[in-house]
Amino acid sequence: MPQEKQPLKSDIVSSIFSRQVKKRLSSLFIHKGTKTTLGEAAIKPVSGLPIIKKRFPFGLDIGTNSIKALQLACDQCGEIKIVNLAIEELPKEAQGHNSEERKRILPEILKKLVNEKGLKGDCFAIAPYLSFKVNLIRLPQMPEHEIDKAIRWEIRQMFQADLEEISLDYIILQGQSLKFLGPQIGVLAVTALKKDIFENLALLESVGLNSLAIDIEPLADLAVLDYARKASPDEVTLFLDFGAGKTSLSIIYDNELISTRSLNVTGNSLTKAVSEYCNIPWEEAEKLKKTFGLAASSTEQAITASSDKAIQVRNVILPLLENMVQDIEHTFKYFSYQVTQSQITRFEKVFLSGGSARLLGLPVFLRNRLNADVQAIDSLANFGSLEPSFKGDDLSCRLNVALGLALRGIE
Ligand SMILES: Nc1ncnc2c1ncn2[C@@H]1O[C@H](COP(=O)(O)OP(=O)(O)OP(=O)(O)O)[C@@H](O)[C@H]1O
Ligand SMILES: [Mg+2]
Repeated sequence: MPQEKQPLKSDIVSSIFSRQVKKRLSSLFIHKGTKTTLGEAAIKPVSGLPIIKKRFPFGLDIGTNSIKALQLACDQCGEIKIVNLAIEELPKEAQGHNSEERKRILPEILKKLVNEKGLKGDCFAIAPYLSFKVNLIRLPQMPEHEIDKAIRWEIRQMFQADLEEISLDYIILQGQSLKFLGPQIGVLAVTALKKDIFENLALLESVGLNSLAIDIEPLADLAVLDYARKASPDEVTLFLDFGAGKTSLSIIYDNELISTRSLNVTGNSLTKAVSEYCNIPWEEAEKLKKTFGLAASSTEQAITASSDKAIQVRNVILPLLENMVQDIEHTFKYFSYQVTQSQITRFEKVFLSGGSARLLGLPVFLRNRLNADVQAIDSLANFGSLEPSFKGDDLSCRLNVALGLALRGIE
């Protein structure tokens, strides 16, 4: 049965995407203010478990291959705990982004989260795949009230499109970025087609979910970094979100997102290469990739005849990862020369996230190639959990975006 679309509430349509934001946003594309009484009231203690004082809206990450959700709550000691999490793998036919099967199955899986996992009501969700663009816009000094108009004019020039059809939100850069901007005002503008955002909202509403905001992955990732660490003001960090269908590289300077761009190599492209090279079905290739990764690079001596497969997998994956390294280097060079006029010439740290960050041997490989401190994100380790399926850091890479979204609720 096709899902009957519920009409969008008029206040969403009228007020969406036209705010001016001064400091880094708590969320992009906010269309409703976060309510003051979020979630459920105090829940009675069950056999010695701490009382949950307040549940926050959950983070909902609808990715290429899977749906991830995570909910935080505050216990009676004021500690933030994970109270609910879910990872639902999509069947192969529903992976990707535009298939009919995906359209059919997404509402079913979301309903399952609502009914079986109790992830209901308010959430923060992610903008649909490839629907958004992030641009750094430089403006001459001008009074604050002029900035909004100037940005809209720039965006119209850039996309040659009717602004009525585009959702726009932006962040006025502050902090250390002013150093390389000189006298100019730097604005990080995020745009998306309204029709894509509304389609996403309609999907959520059709299963009874109330999206408080639509955000983008790079900012959700950054929210986690912000929560977990205090970077020094001059620190330049790369954030590689290496997912199934998309990989993004973000450049973060003084805790602000300055630039983000998609890279070509993705988790699915690695699996495809293994499947084609070894002439095996997708599922088998996926398994081999996860079992061996780059293991054959470091333990070649110890590899037995039965590990021929490990060497094959390494041989297929390695050239693709070399391409990715080149892409990272080119992206950073472009940023360094064009954006900062060579005022920033090196980065200190690279954080890895997304399911493909778990590829065996990846951090060591990138550390050697990029000559930087590379570490897979371990964000969930910062939180206690009341959720029985929580098994610690192994999930951090895949749940980072959902966590970043969930963190919006507690700001
Ligand atoms: N141990 C592992 N080794 C290598 N790859 C892995 C491992 N575990 C998961 N992956 C890969 O991670 C990907 C799934 O990650 P994730 O859940 O982050 O993707 P997604 O959010 O659905 O996709 P995207 O963010 O690109 O839209 C798949 O390509 C999968 O093969
Ligand atoms: Mg993802």
